[in-house]
Amino acid sequence: MRDEITNFQTCKSIAIMGGTFDPIHNGHLVAAEAVRHRFQVDKVVFIPTGRPAHKEGKQVTHNEHRYLMTVLATMRNENFDVSRIEIDRPGKTYTIDTIEQLKALCRSDVRLYFITGADAIHQIMSWKEPERLLSLCDFVAVTRPGYQKNKLFEDIGELRDKFASRIHYMEVPALAISSSDIRNRIRRGEPIKYLLPQEVEDYIYKFGLYQDEEQNEVKFVLSIDTMREKLQSALSLKRYIHTMSVSQEAMRLAEVYCSASERQKAEVAGLLHDCAKDYPEGLRDRFCREYKVPVDSIMQKQPDLIHPFLGAEVAKREYQIQDEDILNAIRYHTTGRAGMSKLEKIVFIADYIEPGREPFRGLEEARRLAYLDLDMAMKYILEETIQYVKERGRLLHPLSQEALDYYKNK
Ligand SMILES: [Fe+2]
Ligand SMILES: [Fe+2]
Repeated sequence: MRDEITNFQTCKSIAIMGGTFDPIHNGHLVAAEAVRHRFQVDKVVFIPTGRPAHKEGKQVTHNEHRYLMTVLATMRNENFDVSRIEIDRPGKTYTIDTIEQLKALCRSDVRLYFITGADAIHQIMSWKEPERLLSLCDFVAVTRPGYQKNKLFEDIGELRDKFASRIHYMEVPALAISSSDIRNRIRRGEPIKYLLPQEVEDYIYKFGLYQDEEQNEVKFVLSIDTMREKLQSALSLKRYIHTMSVSQEAMRLAEVYCSASERQKAEVAGLLHDCAKDYPEGLRDRFCREYKVPVDSIMQKQPDLIHPFLGAEVAKREYQIQDEDILNAIRYHTTGRAGMSKLEKIVFIADYIEPGREPFRGLEEARRLAYLDLDMAMKYILEETIQYVKERGRLLHPLSQEALDYYKNK
């Protein structure tokens, strides 16, 4: 906040570019630059919406993703700035609150312009204290060519007569680009290059945003509640609490790195990762034979390495999980392996960093890296784990060494 005060105090005029930015694209940037030039403002401040009041019920990408994409898109223009005021404000988002909050950060004689799409202006004018809004700032309606501006002016009728000089209109051809079109292109596997900055495109693919959710939807035979009940009777209380916590952490990671359908996979994989951990020895060995779990010489000497491999088989047979990705996330949650899927990494990392863990060396760093980059977190956790195993004279499973070699070279 302090930075914003220093930044904005020097500005005589500011344009505010409000929007969902889901994702931000070149149309937004061209429009912002055009307004900056036409009204000669000192700065354009992009304000990604928090929870938009008029978009309730619609699925909007996580606030932090939209904020970071906006930062990436605007960083090369020194006249552009991004503000978190809507992202950080709890509750519903109203334009009037945002403008008042921003005005409080500026010098008293600042001139404010609020840039938004013509449709949005129409909505704002029709429902939320329009007269007060217009006493605080000018409005700039930006539209793609061909928009029926007469219709807008007719609809806002009285207001326009009263505030004609404070409502401006600009056609911006680049606004033929739209966020919804970009989202659809991604779902259909079509290119989005040159529609948005390269950094934003890279970010979208890195975090798997806007992928086809329905196509990836996984159906579970048992409900998640039934799985929880079964686990409760199969595990000690301590293990059950850990399991719930890993599931929650995996969902938080998936919220950052995955689409909505994958979040459910992360929840289930986290829930079941230790499903075979509390079996008494005799039962464990019997199930290993029955389910044909290959127990190698290292697992024989270190039986706690058996539970992930047995767990995958138990999840398949007793919890009726058919999704191979979930089964592999359970299977490799302790050793890791080279070339893990996103879900495998998420469960491996969530198991290590879940909030119930007693503090140990490297835990905080692992937590920090987990939300920065999954591969960096994998490398760090594998290094720490391998060192821990060696210090205690325990046997290292070759899969862990292979995994570390893999992530070191990534
Ligand atoms: Fe485990
Ligand atoms: Fe665990």
